[in-house]
Amino acid sequence: MTEIMMPWSAHINLDNGLLWHPRRIITRHLSDMADMYRDPDAVKAELESRDPLVYRVDEIEVPQEVGHLLYSVTVIYPGKVGDEFYMTKGHFHVREECAEVYVGLQGRGYLLMQTRDGWCTHLEMQRGTVAYVPPYWAHRTINIGHEPFVFYAIYPAQAGHDYRSIEETGFGMRVVERNGQPVLIPNEQHGG
Ligand SMILES: [Fe+2]
Repeated sequence: MTEIMMPWSAHINLDNGLLWHPRRIITRHLSDMADMYRDPDAVKAELESRDPLVYRVDEIEVPQEVGHLLYSVTVIYPGKVGDEFYMTKGHFHVREECAEVYVGLQGRGYLLMQTRDGWCTHLEMQRGTVAYVPPYWAHRTINIGHEPFVFYAIYPAQAGHDYRSIEETGFGMRVVERNGQPVLIPNEQHGG
């Protein structure tokens, strides 16, 4: 028998991304993704004195089943490891046919996307940007500014997260600071 969920609403502070609703909170510190940055010496030096919070995801709780929609608010804090901007781990969806929509709320960021074939592209995001991640694209976000980069994301609840593929191969491009500006450079460690 079909289970009927009662309708409900939540509140998002559009200035800082704070989500008021029962939620899962995922935090990623530098030590959680130490191998993902290009400069191991910079990672090591940073971790000797502190383990900064790189980003936080607040995700509402709904059944992760076909038909439901999951949404979350992500805050990527401003900062760099060496010359590389703070970023999310990035993932494919386990159900790769599932797309995702991002809405920029605060700050400036890049949305880096890549196919299994290694086709890599990016979009710039700011408050009001609505970015569409089509099916079959891995996605990672990067804070390229000096304030928190905050965005809302919504996607099919059955999508799932495949982080391992990105942990193994990385993205084909990295975002680093050159003369005060974000620049995309090829990732020499990209494994295909
Ligand atoms: Fe996703």
